[in-house]
Amino acid sequence: MLNSHIDKATGFEKRFENIGTTVYENSAIASKSVAREIADLIKKKQAQKQPCILGLATGSSPKGLYAELVRLHKEEGVSFNNVITFNLDEYYPMQADSINSYVRFMNEQLFNYIDILPENCHVPDGTLTKERISDYCSQYEAKIEALGGIDLQILGIGGNGHIGFNESGSLQNSKTRLVALDHITRVAASGDFSGLSNTPRTAITLGVKKIMEVKRVILMAWGEGKSNIIKASVEGTVTNLVPASFLQEHNNATFVLDQGAASKLTRINTPWLVEKITWTDSLTRKAVLGLALNLKKPILMLTDADYIENGMSDLLADSGPAYDINITIFNKLQHTITGWPGGKPNADDTNRPERAEPAKKRVLIFSPHPDDDIISMGGTFKRLHEQGHEVHIGYQTSGNIAVADDEALRFASFVCDYNDKFGIENKEADSIYKNAATFLKNKKNSEIDSPEVRYIKGLIRKGEARSTCHYVGIPDEQIHFMNLPFYETGTIEKKPIGEEDIQITMDLIEKIKPHQIYAAGDLADPHGTHKVCLDAIFEGVKRLKPKKLMNDCWVWLYRGAWQEWGIDEIEMAVPMGPDQVLEKRKGIFKHQSQKDGVVFQGADSREFWQRAEDRNKETADLYDQLGLSHYAAMEAFVRWKY
Ligand code: F6R
Repeated sequence: MLNSHIDKATGFEKRFENIGTTVYENSAIASKSVAREIADLIKKKQAQKQPCILGLATGSSPKGLYAELVRLHKEEGVSFNNVITFNLDEYYPMQADSINSYVRFMNEQLFNYIDILPENCHVPDGTLTKERISDYCSQYEAKIEALGGIDLQILGIGGNGHIGFNESGSLQNSKTRLVALDHITRVAASGDFSGLSNTPRTAITLGVKKIMEVKRVILMAWGEGKSNIIKASVEGTVTNLVPASFLQEHNNATFVLDQGAASKLTRINTPWLVEKITWTDSLTRKAVLGLALNLKKPILMLTDADYIENGMSDLLADSGPAYDINITIFNKLQHTITGWPGGKPNADDTNRPERAEPAKKRVLIFSPHPDDDIISMGGTFKRLHEQGHEVHIGYQTSGNIAVADDEALRFASFVCDYNDKFGIENKEADSIYKNAATFLKNKKNSEIDSPEVRYIKGLIRKGEARSTCHYVGIPDEQIHFMNLPFYETGTIEKKPIGEEDIQITMDLIEKIKPHQIYAAGDLADPHGTHKVCLDAIFEGVKRLKPKKLMNDCWVWLYRGAWQEWGIDEIEMAVPMGPDQVLEKRKGIFKHQSQKDGVVFQGADSREFWQRAEDRNKETADLYDQLGLSHYAAMEAFVRWKY
């Protein structure tokens, strides 16, 4: 059901949407607004002398909400003494005190810091015998019913559209039950469990039926990574393949989104299909390229009729005929292609993405993990070096948590055996490696690595990064390991960006005085390492801006290993021939610890070199389809104008 046709926050029309959506500038603001609604409900219930029944979720999405509720309790005196909570789900089997249990999650994120009564907090019990689960689930539902049902339910959404652990295929009348987890869900959780093989296969979840019965539903989603499933849930047909789409049939459900998660909604992605818009250059480019790709026509073959039949007749009326618009967009796109990412010396650079001067540039490539440079811009990296620029690489984090235990054990044992064999006495090194080997041999599931093990894992990745640089031809003095402290927690959960991270980043920029900075602009995951690494660069560059060294420094953003820029956003596309694709592949192969079953693979089972090749080929194919040159592959960049 539509709550209203106009989004209060953005003023946009939302004709295509079948669920109320509110889009906020970022997840922090959105979480505060949800927390406010919950606090108001709690207070209203208090005034009525009634309990407030909340349905709660775990995962990364509600963390900001819980932090804000804690703040409201501590700073504004909101009391939770009339609140009764029911969590959606729990892994099965799961001990309550395990580091991955949802009981522990809820205690650590919320319950420990507010005045809720412990007996009022319900999380499905992961310790039962299988035979008891069915009765237990009926009792869980009966308890909710006895209290008059859930007043307000918080939901996240899985990449496959699951709500709770109601995976694709769940029925709309499904009950609270034991379910098998989808592969995608397990892969998403595998980071917390140190690999897929340790990740539970089953869970207990509240059924869809009970979720549909709650009085008010708020589903929260952040980041571009969720944008496709949000569009499918909000604008697609109601289907049990996307359980969140059932919420279209709930009469009081709202999706609370940040801009990334909302980015594929029709009103945001293609607003000209929804209402009259002002045609800016960037919207025109996006619409024309989208039109050509949809119709599978080269840009220069688009006709007036194509524009008119596809909701773009006002653009035609303003700037047409089609021929003129086509030529403008075609030229713009053509000017993004360059084999000279550092600028072409002695050439007219009016229509080139980079300046011709200075002919020899100092270049600083920031790589969040030790392999992002070669994966995301290996072809450009090599070209910059070959074209005579002084290329420096700043490896921002050690990347140590992505090394498998057996790999670290192999290296530790190698050193121990070597030293034993040749009677080499180095007490300090011996104890590091021996302690690490002992730790690894006895390591329990999900245990945080000891500092020695982390050190060895970091060394492995450092060696691989160095090896890639040598392969490209970069000398040691141009390789910089920054080891940003925010990363060094030993878990996938990182610390927030700190002053020291920014300072280390600024120091490197000041030391190198680059004409070009390349940074990973992958914003798909708002909590990920890449985002923090980018924030450190953005903040560092802003602070350095008044200094002379920044007068002639351009910042280019590549995307991380996961996603590419939209074709309409690309400002520089560096082409590669088939041989260059193979050279890049060899450069990626230097990262042996990241091959054959990476620890944090994500939902995509392709290896990194395959993803990189597919992605670079896709970009080249898009240029080809649009009627430009046909290359084997292309790496894409967007300029950040600070
Ligand atoms: C958690 C739950 C799940 C998550 C969903 C999104 O209790 O039921 O449905 O809400 O998997 O997880 P995040 O928020 O980590 O992206």
